[in-house]
Amino acid sequence: EEAVRIILVEDATQPRAARVKIGHLKLHRGSRVRVFGWIHRLRVQSQMTFITLRDGTGYLQVVLKGDLVKTLDALDLVTECSIEATGDLLQLPKGKTAPGGHELVADWWRMIGRAPTGVDTYASLFNAKSDLSVRQTLRHLDLRAETPAAIITIRAAVLSAFRAMYAKHTVIEVTPPCIVQTSVEGGSSLFKFDYYGQEAYLTQSSQLYLETCLPSLGDVFCVQESFRAENSHTRRHLAEYTHLETELAFIDFRDLLEHIETVICGVVDMVLADPIAGKFVQQLNPGFQAPTRPFKRLDYKDAIAFLNEHDIMLQEEDPTLPARSHRIGDDIAEAAERKMTDMMGVPIFLMNFPKRLKAFYMKGIAGDEEYTESVDLLMPNVGEIAGGSMRITDVDELMEGYRRDGIPEEPYHWYTDQRKYGTSEHGGYGLGVERFLAWFLNRWTVRECQLYGRWPGHAAP
Ligand code: 4AD
Repeated sequence: EEAVRIILVEDATQPRAARVKIGHLKLHRGSRVRVFGWIHRLRVQSQMTFITLRDGTGYLQVVLKGDLVKTLDALDLVTECSIEATGDLLQLPKGKTAPGGHELVADWWRMIGRAPTGVDTYASLFNAKSDLSVRQTLRHLDLRAETPAAIITIRAAVLSAFRAMYAKHTVIEVTPPCIVQTSVEGGSSLFKFDYYGQEAYLTQSSQLYLETCLPSLGDVFCVQESFRAENSHTRRHLAEYTHLETELAFIDFRDLLEHIETVICGVVDMVLADPIAGKFVQQLNPGFQAPTRPFKRLDYKDAIAFLNEHDIMLQEEDPTLPARSHRIGDDIAEAAERKMTDMMGVPIFLMNFPKRLKAFYMKGIAGDEEYTESVDLLMPNVGEIAGGSMRITDVDELMEGYRRDGIPEEPYHWYTDQRKYGTSEHGGYGLGVERFLAWFLNRWTVRECQLYGRWPGHAAP
């Protein structure tokens, strides 16, 4: 009883402890350091307490012994408490392992924030076997677990790598608005709302704005949230997702495809080479092989033939109708697309879709006007992660596109103007960041790849 009343005082005679983030400790081995963090794991023995401390940059073993485990606060140590500690950063004793290959033997510590010790300890909230829905409702706490934190860390590295690749290729970043009054990918998936008495929408894609930037800024990209009101409860559909979009001037379709594979492969290489994120990728997706260039090119018509040769059937929208084989002109649905992609087992550029399946702005193939210079990038385990095309350059062809899709010209006058004032051959693509991550990290669903997931019916926390 008496023993637990020890009050610790930081020893002023000790050498100054440098305040260091856990991820940067290696350079400070053998010296005295000060760390702050949250208790990730805890092992209490009679005379010693082993803490795995977490601060977002890594994990560190902190050893408390002697008087340090005899304070009142020491009785309250549980996972998720936040603490400060000082001590010597030492090489591990022979035969022992700990993150980073070292441990902090503390000479002082203090409790900053307690965590529940009763029935509602962090550890009792969920574990690896808990239903996904439990973890989703507790996402604010689930984020502290290793896998979610690793995914979000890699996500940051992926976004940095895209930005670095674009900087290298002189593609500059712009930030288009989320509030818009024109649709890009069709009215059925628009979130509508009242905007000072007018109808407005949450953006589905910033593509049309990017196109308007070309004559002013040259090649551009954006990283913007896009919104889709489709009621699709699938492994790869979100209501809000991070949309990385790029638009390139004075290119042809071949340039577009080469640009996409260069950027994707460059991003993968950069993230794998990152000391923190690269290690996380190996943990989450052991055996991941960076894709090789060039990606496989597959014409839409050849894809239809492949589906039929392999008895991958089309299920009609009316579920009472029997499944049938695919015909030229059919959309390739998610399940069929995924089966085909998994059978091929490599990244695929699925190209040249029929005009009637695609958006109004896509350029027709010269001499084969029923088809478009369009591409979906398909990846094993996910299917489509990016979609792009060459854009219509000619005013009359664009008017025809509006007419075909029943789109009124007036609200799009600014988009039309791009063809009036110095048109150019141009093209671009949009990539779903969560789908990219689902492929890269071999995740079951894109829902794991957002900070706070947004899918039909789910918007909290
Ligand atoms: O194929 P989409 O609809 O194409 C466009 O929006 C073009 N305007 C993009 C462009 O050319 N600038 O969407 C592009 C990508 C898809 O390939 C997919 O990765 C992702 O956005 N995406 C979604 N991701 C998650 N949930 C959804 N509901 C998504 N819808 C599209």
